Amino acid sequence: MTLVEIIPSLRASLPPALNGDVWPAGARWADHGDLVVGGVSLTGLATAHGAPAYVIDETDVRLRCRQYLAAFGAERVAYTAKALLSVGVARWIADEGLNLYVGSAGELRVAQAAGFPMDRVVLYGSAKTPEDLDSAYTAGVGTIVVESLSEITRLAATAPAGQRVLLRVLAGPEPAGLSDNRFGPRIGTGEAEAAVARIAGQPSLRLVGYDCSVGHQVSRFSVYEREVRRIVEFCAAMHARHGAAVTQVNLGGGHAVVYSGADLGFALDAFAGRIRAVLHLELDRHRIAEPALTVSPGRAIVSRAGLTLYRIMSVIRGQDGRRVVAVDGGMTDCPVAALCGGAHTAALIGRASRADLAPATVVGRHNDIDDVVVPTLVLPADVHPGDLLAVAGTGAYHHSRACNYHLVGRPPLIGVAGGHARTLVRRESLADLLSRDADHCGA
Ligand SMILES: Cc1ncc(COP(=O)(O)O)c(C=O)c1O
Repeated sequence: MTLVEIIPSLRASLPPALNGDVWPAGARWADHGDLVVGGVSLTGLATAHGAPAYVIDETDVRLRCRQYLAAFGAERVAYTAKALLSVGVARWIADEGLNLYVGSAGELRVAQAAGFPMDRVVLYGSAKTPEDLDSAYTAGVGTIVVESLSEITRLAATAPAGQRVLLRVLAGPEPAGLSDNRFGPRIGTGEAEAAVARIAGQPSLRLVGYDCSVGHQVSRFSVYEREVRRIVEFCAAMHARHGAAVTQVNLGGGHAVVYSGADLGFALDAFAGRIRAVLHLELDRHRIAEPALTVSPGRAIVSRAGLTLYRIMSVIRGQDGRRVVAVDGGMTDCPVAALCGGAHTAALIGRASRADLAPATVVGRHNDIDDVVVPTLVLPADVHPGDLLAVAGTGAYHHSRACNYHLVGRPPLIGVAGGHARTLVRRESLADLLSRDADHCGA
């Protein structure tokens, strides 16, 4: 029996328990309700850097990279940059030995600035622009993912000789509920085979494997197992009919993370074991020795490592008596729950409160109906303007999806590790915002 169970009144005076699936590894409460992440006081960080601010725990990112490498093996894991990218983050990923999936000339430029080895970079995207492709050719990216039949001719005419390509395929009829606007020639319709034959006919392109993407926030293994079965069967058929012997199948990412205790998450080691077993069974069945499997998670590498600090600006009582807490950020820096795939967990930080806990909703500063940061949580009933709130699980798709709606500057990205905080990306200033306005006279 815990102390709180024996003396229930203690509950209100204790900070909430930190679920290790939700908060960065090593996050801990300190005196006066302070939260410490990466050895850094978040109250102190908010004083030094202001709010809102994104905080990313380098140690947690590196830990996740190592867990993935341990589960899948060296050269079998890539990080998908669109979840979160800065020069500093790219250096952590490079150091840890992961490959990198980039989706634009911009992401590629950041990778170059980080000194990321270009042979470990993969360019993907269903609508690559001439700028994306030219940048990739100039930089010498290792691999390009081909995502439509029409793209093959274009690549063949422009890519350097011997360009390695992966072919993005859709592995069968779309399961109910998934969008039908995903790109990639479909197996079983003749499209994917036509794409293989077309690539085989292009001396400048070298088909090294297939690539797929099954969705986001996926907890169940069955969807990946189905992809492996169909793609290995396809590999065997393409080898037999077109001599296309590939070495690699990338299963993408989509591995679910835990935003709150209600979420399932993703059992990484069990997944790696299961998917390897399915692969070996299928390779034996089709009497081929390759391909090997790779993965390219985004969210699962950085989500838990990140949190956002907000300052509470006002508190009102909603019609149902629930507190509505408005913070100094919102939908511009925190994509709505539907986009990020879950409802976040948050905690009051920076002071110890003995008040009872009461339900609350955290909204942003933008006055829009969907400007909700956390739909439902419990906070001490004495929460008031000036308090600090830490929202967990914002490492993925928050910084990278932030926008300037209401002409609000985007928050800084602060890296923490070993007791030190370092600005990775500075706060966007009003001068930054005005600098793009061609009618601004500089006054
Ligand atoms: C090829 C590929 N891998 C990985 C991802 C990342 O997904 P997640 O961040 O959910 O892991 C995507 C996203 O669309 C993708 O296209």
